[in-house]
Amino acid sequence: MGIKYRKSYKFAVKSSVVITLFSTLLLLVLQYLFFNINMLFTVTFTLLFFAFSFFVLQYRVERFIYRRIQKIYKEVSILDESVLRNQPVTTDMQTLMYEVNKFASDKKIEIESLKVQEEYRREFIGNVAHELKTPLFTVQGYVSTLLDGVKDKAIRKKYLERADKGIERLIDIVSDLDMITKLETNELKLNKQTFDIVELFQNVFDLLEMKADKKDITLMFDKDHYRSIYVNGDREKINQVVLNLIDNSIKYGKENGTTEVSIEGLTDKKLLIRITDNGYGIEKKHIPRLFERFYRTDASRSRDIGGSGLGLSIVKHIIEAHNEHIYVESKVGVGSEFSFTIEKAVKK
Ligand SMILES: Nc1ncnc2c1ncn2[C@@H]1O[C@H](COP(=O)(O)OP(=O)(O)OP(=O)(O)O)[C@@H](O)[C@H]1O
Ligand SMILES: [Mg+2]
Repeated sequence: MGIKYRKSYKFAVKSSVVITLFSTLLLLVLQYLFFNINMLFTVTFTLLFFAFSFFVLQYRVERFIYRRIQKIYKEVSILDESVLRNQPVTTDMQTLMYEVNKFASDKKIEIESLKVQEEYRREFIGNVAHELKTPLFTVQGYVSTLLDGVKDKAIRKKYLERADKGIERLIDIVSDLDMITKLETNELKLNKQTFDIVELFQNVFDLLEMKADKKDITLMFDKDHYRSIYVNGDREKINQVVLNLIDNSIKYGKENGTTEVSIEGLTDKKLLIRITDNGYGIEKKHIPRLFERFYRTDASRSRDIGGSGLGLSIVKHIIEAHNEHIYVESKVGVGSEFSFTIEKAVKK
């Protein structure tokens, strides 16, 4: 423990002096009354009596207190009895104090972290409820209108389609949440394989072309890739990463903007993939929290274009499950760049 303890004799010395003084005085009185006072006898008696009472007190009291402390250690299961050594009682009093203080501060830290977790959990449940409410009420609205009876067939179809969209949105949120939970509890096993990353990007470009066209955003590579570039990873999951990053670059990109993808070698074994847009950009204060579940910047909230804010959290989990890294750089008004590393595949 590294703490020096001082053994104390004060109690035994003081008590022995008091007892010895009293008994010597008594002895002198008795001698005076019944015999003559014998000084040699008195001094010898005093010394012997003092020595005897000192040893009895020092030893007995020590044992007594030691046993009491031992009982405390035994009864208070939080204290480790093995810490209590058979040492002078003063030492063990200090050990007890040290142990109790340590226990108290450990518990304090534990309680603090539990409070943080509790807060996080409450916030999470609040967020889930909030996200589910909007599509749920939309569906409910259309369904109850339909139940009330809508004569026009075309309107009926329109309402049904909208309700269907709402349900789709609900399914999306629930499956995103499911995915996050699985990623966080390491339940999701990666299905690693070798695949062509250029082709994967091309497929995502094709898939999101219509969405990009609506804002006149061009999706492109920084240079022509005539040859395939093979990487190792879970194709489906990496597809999800790319899909969300490109989707974000469109959602938060400006009209007539560009989303540019670059694939370049980083080391012998790694590639760096960058997705750059010239959109709204992200304020510096948001960057550290960007990958948190449900986190959205005020800008995307006020523009009402954002999703549920789960995308980047899933992206980060997937990249980390691959033991890779994701980076973000952004400047308001200039644009954002999300980049991640991935393992190169040995040429086939
Ligand atoms: N390329 C980008 N440019 C500007 N802001 C971005 C960009 N990508 C992400 N953001 C900000 O980060 C937030 C979180 O992104 P994330 O992908 O996690 O959620 P989302 O796109 O809002 O919803 P989801 O992906 O779940 O549908 C976004 O709401 C947006 O505010
Ligand atoms: Mg997103």
